[in-house]
Amino acid sequence: MTITVAIDGPAASGKGTLARRLAAILGIPHLDTGLLYRAVGRRVLDGDGDPADPMAAAQAARALVPADLQRSDLRGPAADSASAAVASVPEVRAALLEFQRQFAAKGAVLDGRDIGTVVLPDAPVKLFVTASLEVRAQRRYRELVARHGVVPDIVIVRADMAARDEADSSRAAAPLRPAETAVILDTSDLSADEALARAEAIVRWKLGADRD
Ligand code: DC
Repeated sequence: MTITVAIDGPAASGKGTLARRLAAILGIPHLDTGLLYRAVGRRVLDGDGDPADPMAAAQAARALVPADLQRSDLRGPAADSASAAVASVPEVRAALLEFQRQFAAKGAVLDGRDIGTVVLPDAPVKLFVTASLEVRAQRRYRELVARHGVVPDIVIVRADMAARDEADSSRAAAPLRPAETAVILDTSDLSADEALARAEAIVRWKLGADRD
């Protein structure tokens, strides 16, 4: 049986770790689709372009190659804002659509912002993973300290995150919102292990229910 799981949610909601671990349990590949937008943003910055320029962003999206996803500079504030800018360009989203669908064709877990609504509207399992802004800002803060060795100002981290939420949710092209049939999983008060256990239970219930 082909299992396709669509996971959407805002930044630092825990969806990435959840998606990766869920895919490992189910024995299927995982694609972090945010990396695609990050790689497009990086390509534009490499050429000294403006990620908000639709022409430059669309050109970079069409030139994307799989090796771009392996770059070591896809995380951090510059890549964050460049990716949010290119993600609002419809031509960029269109250029990335086919790759994502092909990746999912034989079964996969995809996480992003529009997986359940646009990329895989027929996915049998859709999760919308979220958490409060405060909790997500704290998580991002700890990640920046642990991964990048910087001690950022939490006020700035929170403001950046709120701005990115706003950009992701208010853009005209594929805004962040739960699919109609998505199960909402709020991880504000859950550890990563607890969130995974709930997600796995939801997947098994959904797949079982679909067979009835
Ligand atoms: O999940 P992330 O933070 O790595 O995503 C980076 C940016 O890309 C973010 O601003 C939202 C955007 N994105 C999107 O618009 N659609 C997706 N499927 C995945 C990410």
